[in-house]
Amino acid sequence: MLSRNSILSLYLSLASSIAAPVSDTVSSSSNSTSLTEMCDSSYIQSLIPSNGTLLGIDLIPSSVQATIVDPSAQGSSSSGASSTSTYTSKYCSVTLEYTHTGKGDNVTVKYAFPSPDEFSNRFYLAGGGGYTLNSDATGGLTYGAVSGATSAGYDAFDYSMDEVFLYGNGSINWDAAYMFSYQALGELTVVGKYLTREFYGLAQEEKLYTYFEGCSDGGREAMSQVQRWGEEYDGVIAGAPAFRYAQQQVLHVFPATVEHTLGYYPPTCELEKIVNATIEACDGLDGRVDGVISRTDLCALQFDLESLVGQPYYCAATTSSSLGFGFSKRDDQSQTSDTPEQSGNITKEGIAVAKQIYDGLFNSDGERAYLSFRIGSSLDDADTTYNSDDDKWELNIPSTGGLYVQKFIKLLDLDNLDNLDGVTYDTLIDWMKIGMYRYFDSLQTTVTDLTPFRNAGGKLIHYHGESDPSIPPASSVHYWQSVRDTLYGNLTFEESLKELDEWYQFYLVPGAAHCGTNELQPGPYPETNMEIMINWVENGVKPTGLNATVSEGEYASENQELCKWPTRPLWRSGNLSTFDCVFDQASYESWTYEFPAFKIPVY
Ligand SMILES: *[C@@H]1O[C@H](CO)[C@@H](O)[C@H](O)[C@H]1NC(C)=O
Ligand SMILES: *[C@@H]1O[C@H](CO)[C@@H](O)[C@H](O)[C@H]1NC(C)=O
Ligand SMILES: *[C@@H]1O[C@H](CO)[C@@H](O)[C@H](O)[C@H]1NC(C)=O
Ligand SMILES: *[C@@H]1O[C@H](CO)[C@@H](O)[C@H](O)[C@H]1NC(C)=O
Ligand SMILES: *[C@@H]1O[C@H](CO)[C@@H](O)[C@H](O)[C@H]1NC(C)=O
Ligand SMILES: *[C@@H]1O[C@H](CO)[C@@H](O)[C@H](O)[C@H]1NC(C)=O
Ligand SMILES: *[C@@H]1O[C@H](CO)[C@@H](O)[C@H](O)[C@H]1NC(C)=O
Ligand SMILES: *[C@@H]1O[C@H](CO)[C@@H](O)[C@H](O)[C@H]1NC(C)=O
Ligand SMILES: *[C@@H]1O[C@H](CO)[C@@H](O)[C@H](O)[C@H]1NC(C)=O
Repeated sequence: MLSRNSILSLYLSLASSIAAPVSDTVSSSSNSTSLTEMCDSSYIQSLIPSNGTLLGIDLIPSSVQATIVDPSAQGSSSSGASSTSTYTSKYCSVTLEYTHTGKGDNVTVKYAFPSPDEFSNRFYLAGGGGYTLNSDATGGLTYGAVSGATSAGYDAFDYSMDEVFLYGNGSINWDAAYMFSYQALGELTVVGKYLTREFYGLAQEEKLYTYFEGCSDGGREAMSQVQRWGEEYDGVIAGAPAFRYAQQQVLHVFPATVEHTLGYYPPTCELEKIVNATIEACDGLDGRVDGVISRTDLCALQFDLESLVGQPYYCAATTSSSLGFGFSKRDDQSQTSDTPEQSGNITKEGIAVAKQIYDGLFNSDGERAYLSFRIGSSLDDADTTYNSDDDKWELNIPSTGGLYVQKFIKLLDLDNLDNLDGVTYDTLIDWMKIGMYRYFDSLQTTVTDLTPFRNAGGKLIHYHGESDPSIPPASSVHYWQSVRDTLYGNLTFEESLKELDEWYQFYLVPGAAHCGTNELQPGPYPETNMEIMINWVENGVKPTGLNATVSEGEYASENQELCKWPTRPLWRSGNLSTFDCVFDQASYESWTYEFPAFKIPVY
């Protein structure tokens, strides 16, 4: 067993010998020796703080296990880590357990430590998706960062939270709810930062740059950390966050409820055609015909869906299987669907369905309850099911929303709603209210006072695909506006923008779908967010736009600096490779909502 000091002196003597001219062979073998010696259970046990040091967290030294992992060695590409695929150096994988003081529960955390010569004073966590926390601890290695993953006390490496959320009908596992919502990740960071400092022997004044990055529920997780553990993070990247959780999950049932209420179940091809024809009609409003609606606001203001009635549609027969939306690891979530050859003309009933979905949810008094997907987005949640027995299109309730209503609202251990009998728009709003009130301080994730994060110097990049068919981008806009009102409500609009720009930047990604590119709109997508964030945090280079690249179509490989909200792109006439970032009031207002159907503020 090596003491921490002897390891450190070994490391320091290596560091100084590296400065002297040594052959490549010598230096590489020295480096790996150093990591091997540090990656030692006894050494790591010696770093564990006494109980009481990290409030409420009792780490258990005897649980420590440390092993060297060599990703370049044959057959060691184990736990499904695409993020490790480009990382070939050896790293130290550490697992250990802690219990909450006096509670006797068991949380397992694992961390991946790069070798000292690859360590860049960074700690990094990646978010998960659906009801699943990220279980891969290696995502930070390529950034020279230690990163980690947690069991969250409910064996989150093997289960998604919805699988453990009910002990039985009517009986909530609140520990799992809070741990999943924000606590497990905050603790993973607190413990991880402590061990990282000790492992590499960072001096107190040495900065350990701390990052969180995620999209979808991972984006919600990112926001949960900004809201609850703001002082712990230097840079957070939140994509398409699944926050305002109650409204967001019930929204997945809204399109089916529209069809149920209007009594029209459109063939999937009809909706697809409505979307395609909208894209075609609105493509050029942003100044360039490139297959992308970069300005859904102009489309909403200028285009009338009714003009599509009568357009013919055709789709060939298909057999497809999909995994839903990465919502669960369980195999039974995969769906196969057979659809027949479809042809017809767009009906006024089909248009009425599409229109109402894009308009959003209102109560029976005509008060707005929630926002919705942007015009031109796919209408995935509205997809009907084909019944070959009677050759009819029928109700299909997406399990994303149906599961939430059963488990989290009705507290029944069921995976979806069977039907929408008796369900009205008011019912959806009641479900949203129950969900909002019950999980206000856990899943909802809409705290808007980000003062601790801001004052500690934290930087936030928030982005959202403008044609996201799963989480509406206006949901992100609404949160941005709520933060602005909360923190800078007494400033002029321009002054508030100037303040926000210093630490919280929001970007809409033209044409993009949910956390990725859109097969219907070949638009830009940002792929270098971490590089931009690192440059902002560590070098003080404030982003002026978000670097994005077009991956397909006529403009493939074109680089675009995305416009910072609330400005919007407008291609220049006369030079189709340049757009300006403009502000116009009517467009801004088309993104702005109030929700009078709720009697308390919805942030
Ligand atoms: C060892 O460390 C030196 C200095 O940090 C670095 O240049 C070299 O690439 C490292 N070798 C290996 C094999 O990691
Ligand atoms: C902290 O407390 C736990 C039990 O709560 C115990 O197992 C552990 O050994 C203690 N850690 C230290 C460093 O004393
Ligand atoms: C804690 O849980 C892990 C699995 O996540 C298990 O391997 C370990 O034995 C448990 N520890 C205790 C003390 O129960
Ligand atoms: C939970 O409630 C549902 C709906 O009432 C019922 O179908 C199911 O059998 C119940 N589960 C148990 C374990 O009682
Ligand atoms: C919609 O557009 C996509 C992409 O161009 C195409 O594959 C699909 O067949 C179109 N669907 C209909 C109904 O026109
Ligand atoms: C669709 O409209 C065309 C005229 O535009 C008409 O000839 C055709 O019969 C219609 N098809 C159906 C299925 O209604
Ligand atoms: C707005 O309020 C903040 C504190 O809430 C204060 O620091 C700031 O000076 C105020 N600004 C103006 C323009 O009144
Ligand atoms: C922008 O992104 C592209 C590809 O995603 C990358 O090659 C390029 O280096 C990035 N530019 C900047 C300035 O980060
Ligand atoms: C069009 O804009 C691009 C990017 O700003 C610039 O490089 C190019 O020179 C411009 N072309 C013309 C013809 O003005």
